[in-house]
Amino acid sequence: MNSNLLHVACIMDGNGRWAGKRGLPRTAGHTAGEESLADIVRAASKREVDYLTVFGFSTENWVRPRAEVRHILGLHKKLFGRIKELNENNVRINWIGRPFDEPGSRTPLYVQRAIRKAIDDTSKNTGMVLTVAFDYGSRSELTRAAVKLVTSDQELTPTNLQSWLYDASLPPVDVLVRTSGESRISNFLLWQIKSAKIYFTERPWPDFDDVDLDAAIALTKI
Ligand code: FPP
Repeated sequence: MNSNLLHVACIMDGNGRWAGKRGLPRTAGHTAGEESLADIVRAASKREVDYLTVFGFSTENWVRPRAEVRHILGLHKKLFGRIKELNENNVRINWIGRPFDEPGSRTPLYVQRAIRKAIDDTSKNTGMVLTVAFDYGSRSELTRAAVKLVTSDQELTPTNLQSWLYDASLPPVDVLVRTSGESRISNFLLWQIKSAKIYFTERPWPDFDDVDLDAAIALTKI
C-alpha cells in the first residue's frame, strides 16, 4: 500500500439543521448536501487528493422517516448519475457497504443498479477515487472481516484481517472531516482512520467549501 496517497474522508453532517435554519424541510438540506458534495468532488479532484471517501448512508440511517430515506436514496441515484461530470474530472467511482447479496442488505435494486453503472462507466478514469459509503457501518465491516478471517485458513494478523474489509485497497485515511459542530466518529472507517488527523468544523455540510477542504488538507502537512 502506498502511504504517499492523500486520502480525505468526510462525515457530511448538518443537512437537517441547515434546512431548519432556513425554514425548509430536512429533504431540502439533503438536496443542498448533494450539490455541496458535487462541488467538493470537483474541488478535490483538482487538488492533490487521491481518495475521497464520503459517508452517504449508514446502516443506522434506515430508521429515519420513510420519505426522508427515499429522498436520500434518490440523491444517491442522482450523484451516481453524474457520469459526464465525473468523467470530465477523471474521477473513478467506488462503493463500500453491506454486500447486496448478504443477509441484512436492504439496498433497493435501483440504487444497486446506479452504483454498478457508475462504477462501470467511470472505471477507466485514472484520477481521484470517490468512494461512497452506502449502507455502511464500520462494526459490520469489521465483524464480517473477522468472521471471514476465522473461517479461512489464514493466520490472524492485521494484514490478513484488512484483506477482508469491504475494499482492502483503500489507503489509510489522512484526514477525517466532520461538519456541523459534532465531534464524534459515528462508526465510520474505524480501521482506516488509525492515524488520521481530524478536522472538525461548525459549518454544516451544505456550506462546506473549498476553503474548508484546503484547511482539512493543510492538517495533513503538520
Ligand atoms: C447528515 O445530515 C447527512 C446524512 C445522514 C445523509 C448524507 C447525505 C447527503 C449529504 C446527500 C448527498 C450525498 C450523497 C452521497 C448522495 P443530518 O440529516 O444528520 O443533519 P442533522 O444532523 O442536521 O439533522
